[in-house]
Amino acid sequence: MPVKKSATSLLKPRRAIARMTPYHPPSSGRSGKMRLDFNENTVGCSPRVTARLKKLTPAALAAYPEYEEAVPSLARFFRVRADELTLTNGTDEAIQLIINTFVDPGDRVLILRPSYAMYRFYAQIMGGIVDEIDFRPDLSFPAYAIVKHLGTPAGRRTRAVLIANPNNPTGTSASPEQLRAILRAAPQAAVLVDEAYFEFFGQTAIGWLGKFPNLFVSRTFSKAFGLAALRVGCLFSQAENIAAVRKGQSPYSVNAVAVIAALEAIKDPGYVKKYVAEMFASRKLLCDELKRLGLSYGSSDANFVLIDFGEQHRAIRDLLAERGILVRDRDYEISGNVRFTVGTLKQTRTLIRELRRAVRRLVSEGGAK
Ligand SMILES: Cc1ncc(COP(=O)(O)O)c(C=O)c1O
Repeated sequence: MPVKKSATSLLKPRRAIARMTPYHPPSSGRSGKMRLDFNENTVGCSPRVTARLKKLTPAALAAYPEYEEAVPSLARFFRVRADELTLTNGTDEAIQLIINTFVDPGDRVLILRPSYAMYRFYAQIMGGIVDEIDFRPDLSFPAYAIVKHLGTPAGRRTRAVLIANPNNPTGTSASPEQLRAILRAAPQAAVLVDEAYFEFFGQTAIGWLGKFPNLFVSRTFSKAFGLAALRVGCLFSQAENIAAVRKGQSPYSVNAVAVIAALEAIKDPGYVKKYVAEMFASRKLLCDELKRLGLSYGSSDANFVLIDFGEQHRAIRDLLAERGILVRDRDYEISGNVRFTVGTLKQTRTLIRELRRAVRRLVSEGGAK
């Protein structure tokens, strides 16, 4: 029986939800394509992980997850104490936990623009007031503007500051000194340094946990480790903060298969090291080609490059998609820019061949840069 319209309009969502614009990242039709649109590992995880997963038994899947082995092992891997870490369902849960633990409706949350969409998403669900600071015109990190804002009356009421380092989609990063200045300027706020791209960058704030009681750091297995499908990451902070966060966390938010995969992945650090080394070579190859093509692009500290195609941004995305290569058009936040994830050398050579072809086609049609 068809549902009557009046019946569906009876329930009103909370005001914070009603005010939100839905966020719909592309979430289908990617299988079998060259996935250069989500900054994932473009070939997959260590074969050790898949071999371990093949050994899963029905009994292992029948039981609720247990974390007694995982937490100390991951703590050793990340060189923190077990009470300074909580396992999370990807970085997304880490962001949500920080907001849930420290931000009340009407509190202020500071984020950067453009940056990872889920910061705004969780702050808005809570009914927080989102303050945004723009990256500088050259897309470098706006440390001065952030510290200045934190000194204003509104800034002093900020309860969370969410920073991706390196940042997505700009690829740019904050220096340790800049991050320390923000931590000092916002003692009343939970300051998250989201290190989703750490493996490609090498700089971390994890070592400062003892120094800054307001510091939170997140890591993920979704990017270099190649486990995005499983949704697993870690959130780090001082023990008292982690205890508060855990109070509000679902006891089984990370599934048992994800835990097993993460534990196996950290036993094969050589795999990630090799992938990262190849990504560096690929990124250089791609950037050299972009120069040759006369395209302007931002220098990147992560496994993606933001390229300015001007008015041709959509045409480039579509021409590459026709050839089975997915890239992400970010024109809606940085005019004319498209973000390319960088994968293996073989993939980058294919990408370059197809990019040349697309540019040639646009030039012949007239109007390309
Ligand atoms: C800065 C940043 N943080 C976090 C994530 C997502 O991480 P996870 O898959 O661990 O939720 C992304 C993914 O694009 C990202 O760019």
